[in-house]
Amino acid sequence: MQSEIQTLLLFAIQLCLKSKEIISKNNKQIETKENVTDLVTLTDKAVEDYIITEIKKKYPHHLFIGEESLRQEFTDQPTWIIDPIDGTTNFVHSFPYFCVSIGLCINKEPIVGVVFNPLQNQLFYAGKNLGCYLSNDQFKDIGDGKKLFSTGDLPTSLSHTLVLTEYGASKQQDILQLKLDNIKRVIDTARGIRSVGSAAMSMALIAQGVADLYYEYGTHCWDICAGVVLVRESGGIVEGVNSEFGLMKRNLVCMRGGNGDYKVLKEFNSLMVHIDYPSD
Ligand code: IPD
Repeated sequence: MQSEIQTLLLFAIQLCLKSKEIISKNNKQIETKENVTDLVTLTDKAVEDYIITEIKKKYPHHLFIGEESLRQEFTDQPTWIIDPIDGTTNFVHSFPYFCVSIGLCINKEPIVGVVFNPLQNQLFYAGKNLGCYLSNDQFKDIGDGKKLFSTGDLPTSLSHTLVLTEYGASKQQDILQLKLDNIKRVIDTARGIRSVGSAAMSMALIAQGVADLYYEYGTHCWDICAGVVLVRESGGIVEGVNSEFGLMKRNLVCMRGGNGDYKVLKEFNSLMVHIDYPSD
């Protein structure tokens, strides 16, 4: 299984790197989905088409869940979960936090994750029990990247914690109010709060250990699947807010790895008022 995961990981890395050619054409022609914040560009669609076509050639029996096109049933079968551009609004504005995000689940467990930010030339990748690494588009082999494994002391309270979160695209007023109330309680308590505009990039930053905790209500499985592998393989943990983690559950909180325990999560969870979303 181990070398199989390695083969699948290498394949996913090549797909992410190749996508840069499509992204570099910079086609930002927009289609609005739900509202002015929920965008898709022709580049998102072209990248997703490219990735799915290549996987189908190599693994014809594998299944897919893609943000922009194919959403097959989530079963125990190998299933690729793809966000061709996570952080589409950032892509449209050239704000340098967007990425291609490819995850693979087997038996519903994320086992391969690749997050590639083409503007900053950062390639994050991880495979179950293979570790998590940071490299660039000169990538040659898995072990060549910088191994990400957070060993610093974990914060013991939120007052020492740098938190990442996202507001999501929904403009539904009751949901927005609950999100803002949660965010206010975090701002009141935590050392700092940041928002980079991409769930997958946020999880990569947690894996890198440059922020401590990321949470969001309203995520979809394609925003977070690859990031789950990155965070876990870098020594961190992924949970649901006040609950067990579920890829389809539309909320998560994750923390970087390090020395100490995760008691700060208890403090964080106590601040959160649940926001109900229909599962993916
Ligand atoms: C979105 C971004 C955003 C997050 C949303 C995602 P998209 O993905 O990751 O930061 O708040 O939950 O849907 O639409 O840019 O691919």
